[in-house]
Amino acid sequence: MMATSKHNSVLLAAVLIAAAVLFSAIPSTHSAASASTPKKPRLGVSTVPSQVAVDAGSVGFASVVFPLYGDVYPHGLYYASMSIGDPPKPYFLDVDTGSDLTWLQCDAPCVRCSKGPHPLYKPTKNKLVPCQDPLCEAVQRATGMRDENGCEPNQQCDYVVGYADQGSSTGVLVRDGFTLRFSNGSLARPRLAFGCGYDQQGIGPNAPAPTDGVLGLGRGKSSILSQLSDARLTRNVVGHCLGRHGGGYLFFGDGLVPRSGVTWSPMARTTVLAKYYSPGQASIYFGSKSLGVRQQQMVFDSGSSFTYFALQPYQSLLNAITKDLSGKPIKETHEDRALPVCWKGPKAFKSIFDVKTYFKSLVLNFVNGKKAFMEIPPENYLIVTDHGNACLGILNGTEVGLKDLNLIGDISMQDLMVVYNNENQQIGWIRGSCDRLPNADDDDDDNGFKSEGGHFEPQFLYQISVLPLLFNNQ
Ligand SMILES: *[C@@H]1O[C@H](CO)[C@@H](O)[C@H](O)[C@H]1NC(C)=O
Ligand SMILES: *[C@@H]1O[C@H](CO)[C@@H](O)[C@H](O)[C@H]1NC(C)=O
Repeated sequence: MMATSKHNSVLLAAVLIAAAVLFSAIPSTHSAASASTPKKPRLGVSTVPSQVAVDAGSVGFASVVFPLYGDVYPHGLYYASMSIGDPPKPYFLDVDTGSDLTWLQCDAPCVRCSKGPHPLYKPTKNKLVPCQDPLCEAVQRATGMRDENGCEPNQQCDYVVGYADQGSSTGVLVRDGFTLRFSNGSLARPRLAFGCGYDQQGIGPNAPAPTDGVLGLGRGKSSILSQLSDARLTRNVVGHCLGRHGGGYLFFGDGLVPRSGVTWSPMARTTVLAKYYSPGQASIYFGSKSLGVRQQQMVFDSGSSFTYFALQPYQSLLNAITKDLSGKPIKETHEDRALPVCWKGPKAFKSIFDVKTYFKSLVLNFVNGKKAFMEIPPENYLIVTDHGNACLGILNGTEVGLKDLNLIGDISMQDLMVVYNNENQQIGWIRGSCDRLPNADDDDDDNGFKSEGGHFEPQFLYQISVLPLLFNNQ
C-alpha cells in the first residue's frame, strides 16, 4: 500500500477528539470483535519452518526470517505472523514495503475495527509512546500532523495513516516487545514502536479482515526495519520472496542475499521517489518492442496485490497486447468481474501455463542501474480466474489517483527474491522459487536462483541501439 497524507486532513479533527478520550472509560462497543474465530494461516506449499535460523551474512549482524502466508489470487495479500506483547501473542501482519508505520487493530477501546484473525491487541498505559519521542515526531511529520509548535511533553502520540486505496488507520503510538529469533540462535524481544489502531476505515467494520494489521517496512525512521537497524540488531536490509503458489518468506538483514546473480539498481533520490522503494525510471518493453512511452517512475510495493501503470503506459500496454493477440484463438471477455480486462480461450484455462504461450513478457529497463533489467513474464502479470479466463493484473493507476507513479505489486514479484538494501541504497532482484530458502553461502552459483541479466542481454543490445529513434518519434 502506498501511504498518503492527502486525504487525512478530513479525518484529523475527528481523531484529535477521539484521541483525547482514549484510555478513559469509553464503553467498548466492540467486545465481540475479540471473539472472532482465529483463521489458520494458509501454509500452502511453503516449506519454510517457523522462524528459521540462517547464517549471519555479515559479521556482527544476525538476520531474522519469517515464513509468509497468503497469495495474489484469490487472497490478494501476503502476511507474516509476529509475536508481539508481553506475554507474546500472535498477530498476522500484511507485509507492506510501500509504507512505514506498523499497526495492529487495537482495543484502546476500538471505535471501528473489523473482525481479524486474532483478538485485538490490548495496550496498557505504560506502553504509550510520549509525543516528544523522536519516533513520534517522525510519524507525525510524515503524516502532516506535527506543526512547528511541536507537542506537549508526555502527551500520547496520535497518528493517522492513509493509503492510496483510501483505507486508513487512526490510533496512538505504543512500544512493546517483538519476539525475534535471530540467525545466530539467540532469541530477543526488542521493544519497537507501532500503532495501536483504534479506528480503521476502508474495510467494513463487520467484514472479516484477513490480517490484524500492517507491517510497515518502508524507508522511513518509524518502520520496523529502521528501528531494528537503529538498535543495531540487524542491517538495514529487508527482502521478500512471494511464492507463486502462495507462501514464501520475509527477512531482515542480509544473511540470505545471494552473493552473485542479483540484479541491482540504485534507489531513486528525487523528492517524490525518495519516500518509496524505487529503482528510479524505467523504459518498458512488451516482447522486444518498446511501449513507445517516455521512461516511467517505478515503485516496488509489496502491499499492493496488483501492478499499476500510469495513463500512457497503461493505454500503450493494452494496445500492444490487443495487437499481439490478433489472429490468436483467444478473445476479450467481459463475463469475468474479477478484474476489468480479461480474455477467454477455446476452452477454460486451468492454469497460467495454458495461457502463457499466447502472451509476451514485459521487460523493465532501469536506466540508473547498469544493465538492470526486470522481466515480467505472463505469469507475473496475468491471473487465471475461477471462471477459467485470463485477466490482466496490471491496472489503471490513474483510476486510483497514482498520477505519474507506477507500482510493481505482488503479482509481478512472485518467485523473485526482492531485496531493499538501505545500507547502500540499492534495490535488487533475482528469480527463483520462493518455496524454499536459498542457501546463501553456496559459492557455486547453484543457489536455486537465476540472474535476470544473462538471458536478456543479447536481445537488448539491439533494443538499446534503437531507443533514441523511438523516443525522437514521440
Ligand atoms: C545474535 O544476534 C543478535 C542480533 O544481531 C545480537 O544482539 C546477539 O548479541 C547475538 N548473539 C550472539 C550469541 O552472538
Ligand atoms: C484510466 O483511467 C482514467 C481515469 O479514470 C481514464 O481517463 C482512462 O481512459 C483510463 N485508461 C484506460 C486505458 O482505460
